[in-house]
Amino acid sequence: MDSATTKAGELEGSYAKTFLPVTQAAHPTGEMYHDPAVLEREKQVIFGEDWLCIGRAEEIANPGDYKTFRLVDQPVLLCRTSEGRIAAYSNTCVHRGVEVATGMGNTKEFTCPYHGWLYNLEGQLIGAPYMRDSEGFDRKNCKLPELPCETFQGWVFVSLNKTPETFETFIAEFAEKFGYLDMEPMRLGIQRDIPLSCNWKLMVENFIDFYHIGVLHKDTIGRYMKTTDVPYETRKRGQVFINEYDAGSHTKSGEVFVEPIPALKDKPPRFSQAGVITPNVNFFVRPDYVMLYSSWPVDVNTMIMKQFIVFPRHVVESPNFPEVKRQFLEMSDKILGEDVAMVESLQNASRAKHFVPGRMSRLEKGVQHFILHNLGRIYGDRQMAAAAE
Ligand code: FES
Ligand SMILES: [Fe+2]
Repeated sequence: MDSATTKAGELEGSYAKTFLPVTQAAHPTGEMYHDPAVLEREKQVIFGEDWLCIGRAEEIANPGDYKTFRLVDQPVLLCRTSEGRIAAYSNTCVHRGVEVATGMGNTKEFTCPYHGWLYNLEGQLIGAPYMRDSEGFDRKNCKLPELPCETFQGWVFVSLNKTPETFETFIAEFAEKFGYLDMEPMRLGIQRDIPLSCNWKLMVENFIDFYHIGVLHKDTIGRYMKTTDVPYETRKRGQVFINEYDAGSHTKSGEVFVEPIPALKDKPPRFSQAGVITPNVNFFVRPDYVMLYSSWPVDVNTMIMKQFIVFPRHVVESPNFPEVKRQFLEMSDKILGEDVAMVESLQNASRAKHFVPGRMSRLEKGVQHFILHNLGRIYGDRQMAAAAE
C-alpha cells in the first residue's frame, strides 16, 4: 500500500479545514504538492484514467504527419493514417519497447531505430528483419498498441486508459460551455512548452485564482480586469466555469488585437470566459482568440506548461500575424512571468517548516473546488469527493 493510500485515514485532520465552506476554509497542507506518493497516485488515478488534451488536429493535418509525446511518463505517438484518421499509439516497439518515432514530422512508415522493425501508419508491423527463424512469430499479429483518441472542434484528446469513460460524457461540459465558439475552423497561432519549477496542480490553481489579479498583475492585466465579483460555477467533475467577466485581450490597453471571433461579435467588447477542464486544462476565451493551457507533471517539483493560442484562420494566415504574435507574446511573457514567480514560491512554501496554510477568501472558490476534487481523487475518500461537490 503506498503512502497516499495509507494516509487516507489521517486526512480528516490534515485537510479537514480545506473542506469547509470557502468563507470558513483554510488552504491545504503541503503534502499534495511535494509528496512523491501523491504523484504516483495521480499518475494512476488521474493521468492514467482521464481523457487528456494533447493539441490540435491541424498539427498533424496530412496523412503521414506525426507528433510524439511523453504524457507524464507514457510514450505516445499521434499520427494521421493513410485514410486521414487521427490515431494514437503507445510509442513502444513491439520488440523491446524503444520509441519508434521521436519529435514530429511526416513519414510513410515508422522504423524502430534499434533493430529496424517497421510499422505502417495504421500501427501494423510490416517488417521484422531476421525473424523468420523465430518459431511461431507472425508479424501480422503484431501492432503498436492503439489508444483511445477523439477530437472536439479541432482539439485532440487521448486516454492512457484503454477503456475510459465515453468521450461524449467527458466532453459534454466543455461542449456545453465552449462549443458555441465553433473552433474547428480556427487555427493554432502560438504553441510553446514552458518548464516550471512547481507542482503541476499549482499552475492550474493559479489560472483560476482571480483573487491575485488586481494585486500581482496590477501593471498588466490587473489594470483593466474586474475580478472582485467573479461568478464561479462549480461542477461535480471538478470543473470550474466563469461564464462571463470583463477582462479583454492581452494587449496593453485590453482592446482586441484583431476583429472578434465570429461567434463573439455580439458580445461586450472585453467579453471573457474561463474554465478548468479536469484534470489539467485551463481554458480562456477572449474576444479575438482562445487560450488553452495544460499542466503536466515531470516530478513533484517540476512541470511543463503547454500553451495553445488559437485565432480565426484568416488572422493566423494574414501578413500581419507575426506582429500580432509578437505583441501577444510580449504581454503574455510579462503576465506569465508574474505568475511563475508566485507558483514557484508556493512550491517552496509547501515544504516550509514554519508555514501553516491560512484561510481562504471567497474569491478562491474556484481554487478550492479544484483542490477538493484532486484530494478526493488522490486519496479516494468518497466523503471527500462528496464534500467537493
Ligand atoms: S526495440 Fe524496436 S526493433 Fe528492437
Ligand atoms: Fe496570474
